[in-house]
Amino acid sequence: MSAPLSSVAVVGLQWGDEGKGKIVDLLSARADLVVRFQGGNNAGHTLVVEGEQTVLHLIPSGALHARSVCVIGGGVVVDPGVLVEEYEGLRKRGLLSDPGALRISQEAHLILPYHKAIDLAREHARGKGKIGTTGRGIGPAYEDKFARIGIRMADLCDPGVFAAKLRENLEEKNAYLAAMLDQGGLDYRSMLDELSGYASKLAPFVCDTSALLDHALRDGKRVLFEGAQGMMLDVDHGSYPFVTSSNTGAAGIAAGAGVAPKLVKTVVGISKAYTTRVGSGPFPTELDDDTGEHLRRAGGEFGATTGRPRRCGWFDAVVLSKAVRLNGVDSIALTKLDVLTALPSIQICTGYKLDGYSIDAIPAQVADYERVEPVYEQWPGWEEDISGVGSLDELPERARNYICRLEELLGVPVGIVSTGPGRDQTLILSDPFAG
Ligand code: IMP
Repeated sequence: MSAPLSSVAVVGLQWGDEGKGKIVDLLSARADLVVRFQGGNNAGHTLVVEGEQTVLHLIPSGALHARSVCVIGGGVVVDPGVLVEEYEGLRKRGLLSDPGALRISQEAHLILPYHKAIDLAREHARGKGKIGTTGRGIGPAYEDKFARIGIRMADLCDPGVFAAKLRENLEEKNAYLAAMLDQGGLDYRSMLDELSGYASKLAPFVCDTSALLDHALRDGKRVLFEGAQGMMLDVDHGSYPFVTSSNTGAAGIAAGAGVAPKLVKTVVGISKAYTTRVGSGPFPTELDDDTGEHLRRAGGEFGATTGRPRRCGWFDAVVLSKAVRLNGVDSIALTKLDVLTALPSIQICTGYKLDGYSIDAIPAQVADYERVEPVYEQWPGWEEDISGVGSLDELPERARNYICRLEELLGVPVGIVSTGPGRDQTLILSDPFAG
């Protein structure tokens, strides 16, 4: 290594929607490259800059900073139409104007129209047992990747290869859609025409992003890895099968960005001051009462990708402890603390009970996880408006006590506190790039 390593990973520690977009946007101001390494346009990262809201689904949140190169790594599944639309939208606003500002891995797999059709038809067929996917074709695209029949960005850029692979795959998918899901087939010619149009627009950005990142890291460039979704949606360690189809944690960076594991230096874990989830699946601290409704309203808890109302509940230290351990979290960015303002008391889940026994781990069987009862400790709430306070000392004592208790339970410091959606509503207690 010729220069000191300077890389930071930002990962979600709950069920996604922790506010990663805002924290990545802030840290991007100091980053040379910002990298997505997994997931696809199931993500929706909401950024508010000078009152203007931007929602990004595929392009890294570094897009709002002129200096950052945005990299879409090989572990991401890319819907070409969505990417072209998002890119052109940003260009119209004068962003990503440098031709080198966007780089897409040649190894990234494509989400194709049949993946979306299968995702939607399967969810429909599952009825009550549905996963609650975003319907963007994420799972079926990753299935093809691991079945070794996927089509990648490099293929999209080679018209002959792409046409042949698309024809072969579509034949099989149409047969599956008809036989198993009672769906009509999709038309090859129109699909090929549409995708070929996207290919010519995206080809200039496609390259070996793994080599690009390795060189950048070895040259001491500041690299920010931007996680999507959250640890409890991780396909290996989340609340399976109510998960997404990728490794959402820091462990996914090496494979998904194509960098050696030791090149990820600092891990910042993002957590809301409470918990939310969209889609189905266990959620022990969920609140189906007025407090849950208050959190949803005060926190604007509606999905950035699908608009679905998010399920809301108390902070769950069992979930967080597991996520801190799996990610090797160095510090926590605690978001949406302001949403807890005006609640008379706040609960923290410190353990579970299953069949009358205390447990401090998440059961592997989803049916058991559905049955656990949270064990709470209660903390007094605060009345004061904290949105935009300038320092930790300005927070009400009760808010500071809440933060201290979370640090104690998780064994890691809170390095960033977010008290509102704007860039200036953030307390940076320690700079992750300084470490
Ligand atoms: P999929 O990723 O569309 O297959 O959806 C699988 C599960 O992950 C569903 O419960 C989705 O609601 C959830 N999910 C996927 N992406 C996100 C996200 O960015 N935030 C929150 N939940 C997500």
